[in-house]
Amino acid sequence: EASERESMYLVSEFANTYFQNIMHKTDFGKSIGLSYFKERGFTDEIIKKFQLGYALDEWQAFTDEAIKKGYQLKYLEKTGLTIVKGEKQFDRFKGRVMFPIHSMSGRVLGFGGRILGTNKKAAKYLNSPESDIYHKSKVLYGIYYAKQSIAKEDNCYLVEGYTDVIQFYQKGITNVVSSSGTALTPEQIRLINRLTKNITVLFDGDAAGIRASLRGIDLILEQGMNVKVCTFPDGEDPDSFAKKHSYEELAEYLKTNAKDFIAYKASLLMEEVQNDPVKKAALIRDMVTSISKIPDRIQKEIYVQECARIMDISEDVLFSTLAQMGKKEL
Ligand code: CTP
Ligand code: MN
Ligand code: MN
Ligand code: MN
Ligand code: MN
Repeated sequence: EASERESMYLVSEFANTYFQNIMHKTDFGKSIGLSYFKERGFTDEIIKKFQLGYALDEWQAFTDEAIKKGYQLKYLEKTGLTIVKGEKQFDRFKGRVMFPIHSMSGRVLGFGGRILGTNKKAAKYLNSPESDIYHKSKVLYGIYYAKQSIAKEDNCYLVEGYTDVIQFYQKGITNVVSSSGTALTPEQIRLINRLTKNITVLFDGDAAGIRASLRGIDLILEQGMNVKVCTFPDGEDPDSFAKKHSYEELAEYLKTNAKDFIAYKASLLMEEVQNDPVKKAALIRDMVTSISKIPDRIQKEIYVQECARIMDISEDVLFSTLAQMGKKEL
């Protein structure tokens, strides 16, 4: 119901202001939250821009304040900000630095909260639950801040995490959004597709993550978009890499290392084939699956040629596999 959602937006907006006030105006906030962000190399300006905050390490500090201000428990619970257990109420976010997640139009939908220090028992990030205002599959972190620049640059950088977005933005690369660690969805891609046909996917520098992400990228091809991928040195992610480099160095790195996705995938998978015909057949099917997602026929053909060269097989084999696949789908 619309008025219920409106109440949820209002509670979320209140929480966003509250977490920022705690961070900027209280001793704990300044010494724990703000100093954490400063140590990560974030400026005051960027901290304010992205509305970063801090949640006190107390059981119900936020919930009590919200109730006192007249917000209804019902909506605190619906947004997941408060966890209700019988007669008791607990703040979901305790002792965490807070990243508000905005809609395309700038409304606060939910939060990501990062743990501080070394409490290895708790998850590094805790996120708001799915709710009537927060549909995770339809949201991209940073899209509110990036939308104009994505259209202007006619390209969108897609990164894994909150801090990757913020660090890039601070460095001057503002056409950047994050899927926040979850698998990319068609709805998320559609948000970008409205602004540009070009996506550059930036991976964290860990091999496992890259392999897992390849399939999701076929979804981007399916929407007729051009996909490039770029990796970072081992152990680096876009945030840590950008932190160490100037804008010019970062821009140069991206320009030099962004590779066309299809060619990148073919090369990456070829490294594992090593003359094993069974593996090679699987690779061919995998590549043809990706190519078959591309709606444009001319583009398809160009990719067939390129893949044939990289995988050292004839174009005919690829074309006939492609044709077979097409028939199966009919
Ligand atoms: N993530 C999450 N829950 C976790 C771990 C990760 O929701 N327990 C999401 C977050 O959105 C995070 C993204 O996945 O930003 C990428 O994860 P990771 O690379 O591990 O974190 P970073 O963003 O690099 O965070 P940091 O630099 O603070 O460690
Ligand atoms: Mn809805
Ligand atoms: Mn990662
Ligand atoms: Mn990371
Ligand atoms: Mn990181």
